[in-house]
Amino acid sequence: MRREFIAALERVTADRGADKEDIVVLLTAQPGGEEEALYRQADALRVRYVGDEVHLRGVIEFSNYCRRRCRYCGLTADNHALPRYRMDPEEILAAARRGVDLGYKTIVLQSGEDPWYTGEVLAEIVACIKEWGVAVTLCVGERTREEYELWRRAGADRYLLKHETANPELYSRLHPGMSWDKRMACLRWLKELGYQVGSGNIVGLPGQTLEDLADDILLMRELEVEMAGIGPFIPHPHTTLRTHPAGSLDLTYRVLAVTRLVIPWAHLPATTAVGTLSPNGRQMALQRGANVVMPNLTPKKYRAAYQIYPGKICLEEAPEDCRRCLEGMIRGLGRIVATHPGHGLKGRRPCRRAAPAEG
Ligand code: SAM
Ligand code: FES
Repeated sequence: MRREFIAALERVTADRGADKEDIVVLLTAQPGGEEEALYRQADALRVRYVGDEVHLRGVIEFSNYCRRRCRYCGLTADNHALPRYRMDPEEILAAARRGVDLGYKTIVLQSGEDPWYTGEVLAEIVACIKEWGVAVTLCVGERTREEYELWRRAGADRYLLKHETANPELYSRLHPGMSWDKRMACLRWLKELGYQVGSGNIVGLPGQTLEDLADDILLMRELEVEMAGIGPFIPHPHTTLRTHPAGSLDLTYRVLAVTRLVIPWAHLPATTAVGTLSPNGRQMALQRGANVVMPNLTPKKYRAAYQIYPGKICLEEAPEDCRRCLEGMIRGLGRIVATHPGHGLKGRRPCRRAAPAEG
């Protein structure tokens, strides 16, 4: 192991600053000893902060209409080849009920940015789901502060809004007509309104550097996020980035592990994108810092059309099969399925120190 790597791992693990240079060094962890040491520390901090429980958050992808034109995303308004669907409120509630009956303690409502669902319509759906005693996470993009407030009053607990990249110049290249400042303003509003806020990035975007990835992690720490979704870029054939190679899985694992070191209290999903690039990707992620899995509750007839990227896993399995499969996976790793909503842990930070880095 390189001396500079050992020193950076020690400093970041002991929370002596976690500066950008150290993070960049950790992101260059070499296969073998360095990667193993990094993953061991991430797993140790995962145990210490969030324990052996794995939270299952059931996701309902209720609309694939999107007014945005994100250059990496298959739901972009520019993708005219994609058949579009919207679930009506009754269908959304039926899918949510199925998730509650399967024992999921959090229901995530996700969609493209689709103003067809007014603030009031979504508030009504949130309020109905809350009556079943589960947590509700919204992930529906940029809306007005008033709408965020309405949903919070209706009982929404959490909001996921990935910053995608902390490099404002790269952000504006990838998101025509959108602004980095607006994204940050939305994240600020959500925090002010008392949501448990999640953000996240994409690993392997064109022109993205290790410094950009270090900035992603530092930005999420600054925002004190409760959740951080970290997934590799996967090219979609109907986007302008179709020929850009997929993000590296190994780099994605390293970003995940370093995020666990720098934001140890955060809930970190083993993302579907990781599972899409490798059959055991989610298991690997769970052993490298992750503690959340997000099974799909979208009715089968719509699932294939929620095509953010191609090859997405679990398109055919019934929700019951996913539940069984995931429980088997979690038990196989010696972990347990959480039986509570797994709210944010930011306020309950245990002692920061983990096992010393090995030389
Ligand atoms: N519209 C909502 C929003 O803006 O937050 C949520 C839905 S969006 C489709 C969900 C996430 O998918 C995005 O935040 C982005 O990180 C991810 N995503 C989209 N296209 C992707 C791709 N080609 N590869 C990897 N991740 C992608
Ligand atoms: Fe869906 Fe395994 S998680 S089948």
